[in-house]
Amino acid sequence: MVLRGKTAIPSPAYLTLDWQFFRYPCRIAVSLLILRSVDESFYHLIIGAEMVDFSEPQRRVVPWSQKHLLGLEDLTPEEITTILDTAEDFLKVLRQPGRKVDLLRGKTCVNLFFENSTRTRTSFGLAAKRVGADVIEFAASTSSLNKGETIIDTAKNIEAMQIDAVIVRHGCPGTPRLLAKNLSCSIINAGDGPHEHPTQGLLDILTIRRKFGSLKGLTVALVGDIAHSRTARSNIWGLKKLGANVIVCGPSTLVSPYWKEFGAEYSYSLDAILNRVDVLNLLRIQFERQVVRPFPSIAEYAHLYGMNSVRMRKTKENVLILAPGPINRGVEITPDVADGEHSAILDQVTNGVAVRMAVLSLLLGKNPPVV
Ligand code: MLT
Repeated sequence: MVLRGKTAIPSPAYLTLDWQFFRYPCRIAVSLLILRSVDESFYHLIIGAEMVDFSEPQRRVVPWSQKHLLGLEDLTPEEITTILDTAEDFLKVLRQPGRKVDLLRGKTCVNLFFENSTRTRTSFGLAAKRVGADVIEFAASTSSLNKGETIIDTAKNIEAMQIDAVIVRHGCPGTPRLLAKNLSCSIINAGDGPHEHPTQGLLDILTIRRKFGSLKGLTVALVGDIAHSRTARSNIWGLKKLGANVIVCGPSTLVSPYWKEFGAEYSYSLDAILNRVDVLNLLRIQFERQVVRPFPSIAEYAHLYGMNSVRMRKTKENVLILAPGPINRGVEITPDVADGEHSAILDQVTNGVAVRMAVLSLLLGKNPPVV
């Protein structure tokens, strides 16, 4: 448009349009500029539109009624999706300079871990702080449990100090449910023996959804010690609920054909499934839970089920490699694959903080989360 010879009349009109684009709030600012010709015989209207950075916190209403997170078996597909969507919003918060929101000010969470943990414990602690809660660390090895106190008495005493959530990891399946029955605060399962590890399942699923956009129709293989893996169970529940096909793969001593009854396919051969999977989640052999060694040697396991560069050549071009960690380099995965371009192992850790922020804010927030 030629503007020579025209006078601009700044328009008082300035309009902003806010709407939700998928789950992201967007704003368009529209300004009007009226131009008139020098002899005032005609006018032009110029509408300038600009996308505005909309990173300030917004309130979004999400449906949520659960008090505890005990396992993905208990959640509906909609509830799982709500956690994932909320975690997406928190990923944006984590990318901002302050990396924090003050949602749970005044709330206190206790990390009650009776098993070793690097990622989960740190991630929950960090997530709680990132949403404004206080976190207390419970040291099981120096507690009165060693003097014969039951876990219920220990937990009730901690609860009497006015706390809002117990994040529990224990070697015995069902411990979080037992605490949920006996305490009035929220209970979050951070891993109960070989049963479930819901936040690990959620962060794995979030990592997959971030790459592929949706879980529907994807084929995800869980490879390794399915018999003793809580990560496997939480993944199976969550993945199936969101429409993915699941293959459990490993030695016959660790993979039962009865997984078919839960809607999962099973395979004893990794090589046989490589060319049809979109995601390979390589699980650690849980030596600490095994009563007898389920295969002759680690070298033999690595030979048959270890993911390496030779096997990578047989996969789909955009295959996603996941591992819950800790990884045993050279056993379930070789270093070149763990650190290679298809691996999202460290993204899983980042996504884990956002998932735990989402879980804490949904369970403990009086109002819907502000993100
Ligand atoms: C777990 O605690 O279950 C971990 O995330 C996975 C593992 O220990 O292999």
